[in-house]
Amino acid sequence: MKKLIIFTLAGFLALMLLEACNNNNTKNIDTAKEDSLSKDSLKACGPIMDPNNPKPMALMMRLMAANADSMRSQLLRGEALDSANYPFIKFYLVEPTDPNVLEPQFFENARLFQAAYKDLFEHPKEQKKYYNLMINSCIKCHESYCSGPLRRINKFPIQ
Ligand code: HEC
Repeated sequence: MKKLIIFTLAGFLALMLLEACNNNNTKNIDTAKEDSLSKDSLKACGPIMDPNNPKPMALMMRLMAANADSMRSQLLRGEALDSANYPFIKFYLVEPTDPNVLEPQFFENARLFQAAYKDLFEHPKEQKKYYNLMINSCIKCHESYCSGPLRRINKFPIQ
């Protein structure tokens, strides 16, 4: 009988804990929505929390950011961007830190980004303008899925 009571108590406690966690989660999602720079909204950017064990998508994103940086410098020097130096990186095919990002809206953002990327090289005379549009597509997706790097990405547009 004693055992049964302890068992029931333990079960009850476990349920309460579970409930508490659930409440917590919903609250986190709400705050993340309100404050895009809150810590919770960085969850989709795991590498920031675990920088030594990045997933393939995070690594590709680092490369994309490095490329954007170098495109920017080239454009500021008045040089034309050659697509051969900047092949499109299919980041949406590889494993992300948070598999929850792989939802329809993410892939739609990826499609729009790829279109903007293609446009950049199809307008050799207006590359500054199309570079900025491409960076806007980075920002668009990051506003929904990974706000941490926005501070860096927001410095990429050319005034
Ligand atoms: C379709 C959505 C999407 C687009 C477009 C996108 N990103 Fe990302 N980005 C993500 C997601 C999701 C992550 C988190 C990846 C992970 O942790 O596996 C990320 C991570 C990053 C990171 C952090 C990488 C790290 O070290 O952890 C940087 C920097 C970054 N992106 C820059 C860019 C730049 C620059 C562009 C445009 C050239 C861009 N992103 C376009 C969704 C996107």
